[in-house]
Amino acid sequence: MQRKTLPLIGAMLAALAAIGLAALVVWNQLSGGSDDVARGDGEAVVAPGLSVGGEFELVNQDGETVTEDTYAGQFMLVYFGYSSCPDVCPTELSGMATAIDILAERDPAAAEKVTPVFITIDPARDTVDVLKDYAPAFHPRMVGLTGSAEDIEAIARKYRVYYAKGQQIDEEFYLMNHSGYVYLMGPDGAFVTMFHGGTDPDSIAKALQRYVTATATS
Ligand code: NI
Repeated sequence: MQRKTLPLIGAMLAALAAIGLAALVVWNQLSGGSDDVARGDGEAVVAPGLSVGGEFELVNQDGETVTEDTYAGQFMLVYFGYSSCPDVCPTELSGMATAIDILAERDPAAAEKVTPVFITIDPARDTVDVLKDYAPAFHPRMVGLTGSAEDIEAIARKYRVYYAKGQQIDEEFYLMNHSGYVYLMGPDGAFVTMFHGGTDPDSIAKALQRYVTATATS
């Protein structure tokens, strides 16, 4: 890369950071951005230097307050969605659960190090009681997190998750629009990688095994 192009790219990055993660992923792929790490199927490339994730304080499906420290030492496989979602969210959460089960068959110790986490972007409907039934239905170890509208907005911003109220189906029922990446966060809470929505569970399982093993031996 030529030196004089750097300020321009910095400005582009700043502009794109305002737009959101999806745009950055696209930009990075179009630009053939630095991809020096071998990546598996479904793994998105994020612009270098871009922060994804961070501190949070939310409530789990048992009504307990949890923070990023609650999961220190664990990998978190994180998906943002809502329990009233008719199709995409259930498919994605089932895929995460299947990936962990595949990993558990190949490498039980590695699977134990990954906690699947569902974070709602619809806290008005996804109360603690709703998540108590919803999250474990996909996987016995799946954690469901909710919080105030402000708390959800804060964590969504850190993960660069887009969400907004969508179509009103009838007087009571509405859809939510939202981005659909699956994030892998490391035992130190730092971003590891993220998967495009619809990535097959076997590819996610392979990536999980690779990252968990790399962390255990480094
Ligand atoms: Ni959804």
